[in-house]
Amino acid sequence: MAFPYRKILVLGATSGIGLALSERFIARGIFVIAVGRRKQNLDEFVQKHGSDKTAAIQFDIGKLDAIPAFAEEVIKSHPDLDCVFMNSGMQRGADFSKPESLDMSLLTEEMTVNYLSYLALAKAFLPFLMKKPEQTALIA
Ligand SMILES: NC(=O)c1ccc[n+]([C@@H]2O[C@H](COP(=O)([O-])OP(=O)(O)OC[C@H]3O[C@@H](n4cnc5c(N)ncnc54)[C@H](OP(=O)(O)O)[C@@H]3O)[C@@H](O)[C@H]2O)c1
Repeated sequence: MAFPYRKILVLGATSGIGLALSERFIARGIFVIAVGRRKQNLDEFVQKHGSDKTAAIQFDIGKLDAIPAFAEEVIKSHPDLDCVFMNSGMQRGADFSKPESLDMSLLTEEMTVNYLSYLALAKAFLPFLMKKPEQTALIA
């Protein structure tokens, strides 16, 4: 399948699916801006692939108030960005057969990271992506 994008921001590129996808993108000549909280993983990623093929930004997407400034900085540093891939997330077990075990603060954090952050990221990046004359994408 054709994948026409040349520079992609991958949220959650420090492990798992996001890391594997990022390495596939780089192998296809697509520049990857890797995002996650674990600085060591980000540093290792850039060291492995080189700063001509990748860049890294340490950011916690659960900090909703910081998302507009984060997007602004990304756009300023990478005006040729044409794809935003929202893959970051977390999943803890929640046993509703034992409601007393449910921790509302953990569930709230999960909803913030897995859901509200995506809405905030879409709001922050869509005006930039939609204004571009070339094909762009926001993928979740
Ligand atoms: N694996 C599966 O079978 C499966 C199935 C369905 C859905 N999913 C979903 O797909 C996504 C990736 O899964 P995975 O298995 O690859 O998980 P993973 O290995 O735990 O990777 C999660 C990624 O999200 C990032 N992340 C988590 N919280 C973050 C935060 N607050 N700010 C920034 N980045 C954050 C992590 O980076 P840092 O820790 O460095 O911040 C990491 O790069 C998750 O949303 C998961 O729920 C996975």
